[in-house]
Amino acid sequence: MCLPTVFLNGHYMPLAEAHISPLDRGFIFGDGVYEVIPFYDGRALRLTEHLKRLQRSLDELEIANPYSIAQWETHIGGLVTHNNGGNIGVYIQVTRGVAKRDFPPPKGLTQTVFMMANPLATPKREVYEKGISCVSLDDNRWLRCHIKATALLGAVMLKHQSNQEGADEALLFRDGYLTESSASNIAAVKNGVILCPPLDNLILPGITYELMIELAQKAGMPLQIRRVSRREVNTADELWIMSSTKEVVPITTLDNKPVGHGEHSGKPGPVFTKMYALFQDYKRGLQPLAHH
Ligand code: PDD
Repeated sequence: MCLPTVFLNGHYMPLAEAHISPLDRGFIFGDGVYEVIPFYDGRALRLTEHLKRLQRSLDELEIANPYSIAQWETHIGGLVTHNNGGNIGVYIQVTRGVAKRDFPPPKGLTQTVFMMANPLATPKREVYEKGISCVSLDDNRWLRCHIKATALLGAVMLKHQSNQEGADEALLFRDGYLTESSASNIAAVKNGVILCPPLDNLILPGITYELMIELAQKAGMPLQIRRVSRREVNTADELWIMSSTKEVVPITTLDNKPVGHGEHSGKPGPVFTKMYALFQDYKRGLQPLAHH
């Protein structure tokens, strides 16, 4: 359940008082976009990057951005304060607005803006120590996965299928190449080199993914941004999952087989351990919202 105070169209209110028309195109068509922004002790991780991605998603759908960056910062800051800061994930949703049900998007609608704050469910220590399990599934989502759209039925069904098969998550492949997971990006490690699938229309440009690449490059860790084949994934030394809510978590089982080799088989690997430490260091250096 989200924390007590939500934001709807310019106003803060208790969740129970937040009402949206059933004719909202977000409800009828999934005609909207969203963001999830992590806050640690009330300090945002890459707020500007999240707001830029929100802008790109809105541009793709030709929905005008209802707020400037400064206005977003004010409203988000207000939501965080109303919910007493701490470790929270701010969820933002912008839909095209309310209209008679008709496929072509009408011009001149007033966008619906909803925000809520959820406790940030960063995985527990055991999860980092043990890792998670994945199953390989065909990525049958649409071809515009770079848009952070609220229409997420493909991801919902894949996640559900992976859980039904007894795994924590789905590792998705399209035409024999790794794309991402249902709600996270993925990196593989082979012979000490971090392999990251390139950003295109088939994956979401994750803020965490981009931060990890930056941290790895700064630390001089070998890294290649290139397509990763299913065979490479199956023989990888390490696999990681990355997102705003999960940070970076090792995948230690794939299709019921241990990931990795030798002493690290089925266990988090050394490159993960280094990346995890770099990420925690980065978090410690975050600035309060006013400094963004
Ligand atoms: N999901 N890929 C997909 C399909 C995602 O849905 C997400 C994020 C990511 C990682 O992006 P980021 O690092 O910017 O969080 C990659 C969010 C957390 C969600 O839907 O709840």
